[in-house]
Amino acid sequence: THQWRGVVEEYRDLLDLPDGVAAVTLREGGTPLVHSEWLSGHSGADVWLKVEGDNPTGSFKDRGMTAAISVAVHEGAEAVVCASTGNTSASMAAYAAKAGLTPLVLVPEGKIAAGKMAQAILHGARVIMVRGNFDDCLGLAKGLAWEYPVALVNSVNPVRLEGQKTAAFEIVDFLGDAPDYHLLPVGNAGNISAYWLGYTQYLELGEATRRPRMHGFQAEGASPLVTGEPFPDPETRATAIRIGNPASWKLAEVAAHESGGRFRALSDDQILAAQRDLAGHDGVFVEPASAAGVAGLLADVAAGDSYAGSTVVVTVTGHGLKDTVTALEGFGPMVESVVDADVTAAAEAAGLA
Ligand code: F0G
Repeated sequence: THQWRGVVEEYRDLLDLPDGVAAVTLREGGTPLVHSEWLSGHSGADVWLKVEGDNPTGSFKDRGMTAAISVAVHEGAEAVVCASTGNTSASMAAYAAKAGLTPLVLVPEGKIAAGKMAQAILHGARVIMVRGNFDDCLGLAKGLAWEYPVALVNSVNPVRLEGQKTAAFEIVDFLGDAPDYHLLPVGNAGNISAYWLGYTQYLELGEATRRPRMHGFQAEGASPLVTGEPFPDPETRATAIRIGNPASWKLAEVAAHESGGRFRALSDDQILAAQRDLAGHDGVFVEPASAAGVAGLLADVAAGDSYAGSTVVVTVTGHGLKDTVTALEGFGPMVESVVDADVTAAAEAAGLA
């Protein structure tokens, strides 16, 4: 009997980690590539969804976190800190709990989805809400790690990208080669940078014959990679990517330029519509930010960009259950009928009779 061992054990030889580091794992990675008939039909391409909400804490962050927490333990850390829009903190808290480390979380006040907050708290994190945005929180996290004995596990820690690049390996392992295009949401820009590392490594190793064009999508109110300027007051209902000055800005630009890809901005309405349509057509429920790649594909096709005949992978980064409040906003009052436990009444309410 064999069970997936988590990304550190499955790909250890390909990751730049200290020799002999013991893996702290929740068996992350090994996530499904789900074929989307809906998006394939819409674009004329063969479209696959890399469903990262299927990770242990419900987002792609677990790939980097298993690596970062494993190394933190290896180096003797007793406490770890991160700034977060929610998912990184949920993931860090879970892996810290597993490893017996103290997790310390800095989040922008009032802008964290309830599910993510619950995860951090239940896993035992000390959660500090900051009057400021994510970028302020990251500055604070760096300051704390500089002055106190606490290890920083944001993606400015290169070990995080080592773990996250395994998603690119999994895609090539499954498809047999790299896709023509890879689309994904971009916030702090660690993930697009990590995918590019992974695809590049597989090309160099001969595991792939090419690398995809990388297309990154941001929310209009937080789209520094599109405008080329930091956003001092980033704003979007896709709170996970509400980031005005991404830490991996330069690496993300390299990924887009070297690959022949680009960045594009989407309105919150486009992102939320894509979230609903993905759930309705494909049965895949993602959080708002996670739908940015899907919204991007739809917007590109509407703008006349052709993906026809190509293979496209779209990463959907986090699970829809993280933020049910935003998900239901588009539906007004809850769609429900209350009836007596009676077949005729139920049939009428259901429109069957
Ligand atoms: N999608 C989701 C669901 C995210 O949580 C994030 C980032 C991104 C996309 C963007 O990825 O930052 O690597 O470009 N969330 C971070 C956090 C910032 O704190 O959870 P990125």
